Amino acid sequence: MEVQDIKVRKILNSRGLWALELDLKVDEKWSRVSVPAGLSRGKNEAAQFEVSKSMELLPKFKSQVVGAYADQETLDKQLQKISGPQKKKFGVDLVLATSIAALKAQGTIYKTIAKLAETKSAMPTPMLNIINGGLHAGNNLAIQEFMIVPHRFGTFAEKIEAAAEIYQRLRENLKAKYGRAAVNIGDEGGFAPPMETTVDAIEAIQAVLDELGHSKSVGIALDCAASSYFENKKYVIDGKALTTNNYIEHLKEICTKYSLFSVEDPIQEDDFAGWTNFTKEVNCIVVGDDLLVTNPKRVDEAMKKKACDAVLVKPNQIGTVTETLKVIDMARKAGWKYIISHRSGETNSDFIAHLAVGSEAPLIKAGAPARGERVAKYNRLLRLEKVIS
Ligand code: PGA
Ligand code: ZN
Repeated sequence: MEVQDIKVRKILNSRGLWALELDLKVDEKWSRVSVPAGLSRGKNEAAQFEVSKSMELLPKFKSQVVGAYADQETLDKQLQKISGPQKKKFGVDLVLATSIAALKAQGTIYKTIAKLAETKSAMPTPMLNIINGGLHAGNNLAIQEFMIVPHRFGTFAEKIEAAAEIYQRLRENLKAKYGRAAVNIGDEGGFAPPMETTVDAIEAIQAVLDELGHSKSVGIALDCAASSYFENKKYVIDGKALTTNNYIEHLKEICTKYSLFSVEDPIQEDDFAGWTNFTKEVNCIVVGDDLLVTNPKRVDEAMKKKACDAVLVKPNQIGTVTETLKVIDMARKAGWKYIISHRSGETNSDFIAHLAVGSEAPLIKAGAPARGERVAKYNRLLRLEKVIS
């Protein structure tokens, strides 16, 4: 298998910003891939360039990739070598789109992933972001994502059905309590009501779970994205500016009171010691996103320091399929949960649905059960469940 040609163009993403779409020709066959963009990005993520810059770099990139052997590992090694640390020479978009397109050229994506990762295909449990705050919404909630995790159901389809029912009931409840403007939605399709505190949002979700009889079968999870409200050495949240220790106490109380399923990025991304303290204190799953940036080196450090016990997997934080699968392999060996994740700026690509099924991921995070770019992932999973079961 040999890379023969590459074409790129700009398309719109879900924020109305430009995203890169790439066509890769391997053995006379074209594969098309588009890539997402985050907004609450970790400092240590691979570098993402403006699409116009990626397009300018294409001739140079092509000259170093066309003619390359398209075996996944060989190609990814070459992509790593030519793009350098944090993929800064060409930017992550060209690199990732090429890597995924080569994967796509090898056949049904989830099957190829299962082969490469030496995993069995399996359906993940979805984590659905139904109240948006932080950088993803125009309200006063410091915490970025309030998710539901329908984990105690037999099938993926049943999980999505429960989630959709919860989402619709939450809309009715928010409208009744806060008025029609409360059901305007944030970047990932969750509602963005004019709430003030973390507890307001959690209780609104808990009330729906109780009303629908789902409080035992559906958990609540947070993505704090804490770096976004860490200012002048304090965590600015719920009307207060808290020191790290007081903030850990505050968050711990919330975790315990509402028996949260998981908490992502509870501590800002530079404070490994704070992470270790928090993880020691709470019973729920602690997930590293901005802290780990899908980077094998940072995952290794976090494992040694017991900074968390689960990793968010975003292929565009690291840049190649091989490096992404490396992180998944590390998580599996350590008994960590791994959560395949979208970005807040998405296209209708359903690649992460294949990645989750093929890598036997226990969980996937793809936004609300609404908006085309979010349901593209869930709908692909609904179809895949029929195929693999
Ligand atoms: P982002 O946020 O895609 O805007 O970076 C998603 C997340 O923090 O999980
Ligand atoms: Zn996150």
